[in-house]
Amino acid sequence: MKKVLVATEKPFAAKAVKAIREVVENAGYELVLLEKYTDKEQLISAVANVDAMIIRSDIADKAVLDAAKNLKIIVRAGAGYDNIDLAAATANKVVAMNTPGQNSNAVAELAIGMMIYMARNKYDGKAGTELREKTLGIHAFGNVGKLIGSIAKGIGMEVYAFDPFIKKEDIIAGGATPVDSVEELYKKCQYISLNIPATDQTKKSIGYKILSTMPENAVLVNTARKEVIDEEGLLKMFELRPDFKYISDIAPDCIADIESKYPNRYFFTPKKMGAQTSEANINAGIAAARQIVDFFKKGVTTFQVNK
Ligand code: 3PG
Repeated sequence: MKKVLVATEKPFAAKAVKAIREVVENAGYELVLLEKYTDKEQLISAVANVDAMIIRSDIADKAVLDAAKNLKIIVRAGAGYDNIDLAAATANKVVAMNTPGQNSNAVAELAIGMMIYMARNKYDGKAGTELREKTLGIHAFGNVGKLIGSIAKGIGMEVYAFDPFIKKEDIIAGGATPVDSVEELYKKCQYISLNIPATDQTKKSIGYKILSTMPENAVLVNTARKEVIDEEGLLKMFELRPDFKYISDIAPDCIADIESKYPNRYFFTPKKMGAQTSEANINAGIAAARQIVDFFKKGVTTFQVNK
């Protein structure tokens, strides 16, 4: 009987685990659960004899993949797969997949929620500001970026987008106004929503040079990855632009500096919260389980990311 491991340091909602179990057991496979593990050795021993695994932001590096001797498929229940060592997966003949779009709405709602929270001074009772008629630049117009844009339009924001991989007509069809360059986006928009993946090209790519071109009362909203920020540049922006605020789903490494020097100009979630809703857990978890079943039963490799 095939074994499917769900390894989640940050567990899915119980309903999602139940739904995953149903898909796995209906296919005649066994579900193995490793939740809230505290060290990598637990993960390494859990993967030893499983045929498939579902993870979230859990690190599937070479050591983990090398220890998974029977593993044929690993599915990241979510969008970003920067936590999987794709070269090691390929070398071990393991198919790696993600589940694009399944948790996007949760991330988009969090981005907008955090923007309102900051605009209202964290609900401290003082007069804040509104989002209506403010400019929002979506940096990368994928599933999350597109949803953030459509919620923002409902609020009455002016929404612009830049994405070198998406045609301008598709950005327009998605409800945003395309701009020609990333520089133009930052120059034009008071709010910037970061939705780029963490890759070798994007890591540390957002720093003082581009942030400093943002208009007055600039707000950077990061529901992507902390790694895309050049933190030296971020600190310089905090220092030289007292009007600047930074909101991020997960704190930067330089959190202590920001906390001590700029207490009212940031908000960071204590743990990555973007996809942490019951709905997103269920959608992404079920999609991951179904992709595993379809892979074993029918050889389906849609959403493979290590081709
Ligand atoms: C994603 O890439 O799908 C999100 O960052 C969610 O990550 P999580 O599953 O760890 O919450």
